Amino acid sequence: MLAPTPPMGWNSWNTFQTHIDEKLIQSTADSMIASGMRDAGYIYINLDDGWSMKERDAQGNLVGDVERFPSGMKALGDYLHAHGFKFGLYNCAGTQTCAGYPGALNHEAQDAQTYASWGVDYLKYDWCHSEGLNAPEAYKKMSDALRATGRPIVFSICEWGQSKPWTWANGVGQLWRTTGDITDAYDVKEKWSQGWKLILDQQVGLEKYAGPGHWNDPDMLEVGNHRMTFPESRAHFSLWCMLSAPLIAGNDVTKMSDPIRELLTNHEVIALDQDPLGKQGTRVRMSDDKEIWAKELSGGDWAVCLFNTGKEKAKLELKWRDLDFLKGQYQIRDLLAKKDAGDTGSDFSGELESHDVMLFRLRTQK
Ligand code: GLA
Repeated sequence: MLAPTPPMGWNSWNTFQTHIDEKLIQSTADSMIASGMRDAGYIYINLDDGWSMKERDAQGNLVGDVERFPSGMKALGDYLHAHGFKFGLYNCAGTQTCAGYPGALNHEAQDAQTYASWGVDYLKYDWCHSEGLNAPEAYKKMSDALRATGRPIVFSICEWGQSKPWTWANGVGQLWRTTGDITDAYDVKEKWSQGWKLILDQQVGLEKYAGPGHWNDPDMLEVGNHRMTFPESRAHFSLWCMLSAPLIAGNDVTKMSDPIRELLTNHEVIALDQDPLGKQGTRVRMSDDKEIWAKELSGGDWAVCLFNTGKEKAKLELKWRDLDFLKGQYQIRDLLAKKDAGDTGSDFSGELESHDVMLFRLRTQK
């Protein structure tokens, strides 16, 4: 099965948009090794929009931009594979990509063969310039073309949630975007994008559609990007792990701070996301300025995330026995502080900064 747990990696779009070249991708790979990201599981390195020439060649083939990728796409894939990564590319179902590069319409089989010949392992397939197309048909066409190459290629459906892909995309791709684009902020709403809290709210109700090999995708991470406070990055990362979201980092990993590196490589937090049971977490409590999210884990454990959605620092109190899905007593591990925190026999009380979380793993007592 492809993507038995949510895919993990890095994508160029959130920081670099179309300003990408082979030096950037190679130095990203090198930094992901040095920082421990690769070994923490971030193995897909995905080039987003802007990697190709503006036109196909005389035979209709896609060609990598010869100035920005002078060694060619196959050589880039070889570099990534030699360094323990997998190689991802991007295209659109329509006539052009969102940034105006050639789209795949009527070239699906040809492009899939090209990707396979370059060693591509992951294709993000977008939805710009797709007027008149039917989403399930268009995505199935590319999915079939990828499968026909015989190469296992993760198919990332990026249709922005418009036709409710969670209702039709299981079996077509391994992940599907549920919303429009994310931006590096808490709850701003812009013309084409929105902050991660607004995207989080739209995941409620989609839990039952996710599982091993078929994931809801609330979009790539903005962890460490410049309009985010550190607590917001920490909350965004923790909640994306609660959602079993694909963990595709979108920051400049060649320049990240130590706290961001430690957050992105926190193995115990990543383990929630990558838990083999593959159950997407749910929002179990919500008030004006607080939310509680819970995620069932394999072996009878639970993850619980307390979230201050208010603008001010807040005091949090919780009687564990009020969480009726818990059965008996559990040991508590504070995953962000990386320390044990007693057991669920006593009530919890603590303080949280604005837009910050506390994240616990409750271990069954054996
Ligand atoms: C769309 C997608 C983004 C990104 C851009 C590239 O907006 O949703 O994730 O791929 O296109 O142009």
